Amino acid sequence: MFRAVVVGAGMAADFWLPPLCARDDVQITAIVEIDPARGSSLIERYGLGCEQYPQVATAVTETDANLVVNLTPPAAHRAVAEEALAAGCDVFGEKPVAESLADARAITASARAAGRRYIVMQNRRFAPGMRALREGIAAGLIGRPTFVCADMFVAPHHYGGFREETMEHPLLLDMAIHTFDQARFLIGADPVSVYCHEFNPAGSWYLGNAAASCVFEFGDGTVFSYRGSWVGEGCATSFDATWRVTGTAGSVLWDGVGAPRGEAALRSDSRYFWPTERVGWPNPELDRDATHHSEAIEATLNTLRAGGCPETDSADNIPSLAMALAAIISGRERRLVSLPR
Ligand SMILES: NC(=O)c1ccc[n+]([C@@H]2O[C@H](COP(=O)([O-])OP(=O)(O)OC[C@H]3O[C@@H](n4cnc5c(N)ncnc54)[C@H](O)[C@@H]3O)[C@@H](O)[C@H]2O)c1
Repeated sequence: MFRAVVVGAGMAADFWLPPLCARDDVQITAIVEIDPARGSSLIERYGLGCEQYPQVATAVTETDANLVVNLTPPAAHRAVAEEALAAGCDVFGEKPVAESLADARAITASARAAGRRYIVMQNRRFAPGMRALREGIAAGLIGRPTFVCADMFVAPHHYGGFREETMEHPLLLDMAIHTFDQARFLIGADPVSVYCHEFNPAGSWYLGNAAASCVFEFGDGTVFSYRGSWVGEGCATSFDATWRVTGTAGSVLWDGVGAPRGEAALRSDSRYFWPTERVGWPNPELDRDATHHSEAIEATLNTLRAGGCPETDSADNIPSLAMALAAIISGRERRLVSLPR
């Protein structure tokens, strides 16, 4: 049984609570919130019937919890994580794992020292369409992938809070990390360098840079091109991005919503452009929620319960954060940046 303390009752909580409450092996034992009105509202909204506590350690001890769900803004992730791990809990926390590599490594080291896990919510790699895209690529339907392209253009106006008002890099650190993590998941390798142009487009309602174009090279030679904007008004893409993957034998498109569509080339000695044929691609399972928290929570908690290591354990997640941080340095210094190994 997971006895879970939820820390932070903002927007992310409404993505987590429905799938957590739907499981019969999860009991929410306490809420920790620096804004008690928000905490009370969450308890009432989901009929949690638990108490609020001002501190994570007290909440864990007094309610005999074994899991902490960390839904605080990134700047608070390390402090909450370390308190929860020291109190003897596994922690499942929102992305990004932290705001710096030093903090991410410290969290991972604290988890190891405590004999616990810190798992990062990278929900967008659990999108059924993304799983199907990867399955077909791994099966070799387009040969070996060589060039992976993703576009994410959306224009949400309701966020307010840390993304609009305080973050210097709201696109790269808060949103692009999803797409970067998806690219690692698809390619099955880690990146070695990035060149990024980050900017804040005219008319932006964000304080920090809300758009970027990045080119990553991966260790296996694959190139990943990312274009994204938080102020991409009109012709919006899915939050899961739209994808084009070209391989040695063909290409596949995924619009971030439906099923991937692939084409393979048919070798011809007499034709200038080789003809192509549609490839039978694995069909995605039914999408259960728009953000895919359901699928991520199910996979993670089932793995934890079986005593395994969830795929987005913080140790594995550090290269995804490294992509965002290296892109930020590249954008600031206008140069190619190598990623740490
Ligand atoms: N994976 C996703 O799709 C997704 C979607 C939304 C948000 N997020 C992530 O979730 C996290 C929270 O984002 P949000 O949009 O919910 O932010 P938010 O500002 O809406 O909510 C954060 C809440 O945490 C509380 N809080 C802050 N510091 C705290 C602390 N030390 N202890 C207890 N409570 C504290 C705040 O009072 C606030 O209620 C971020 O890391 C964000 O990137 C992820």
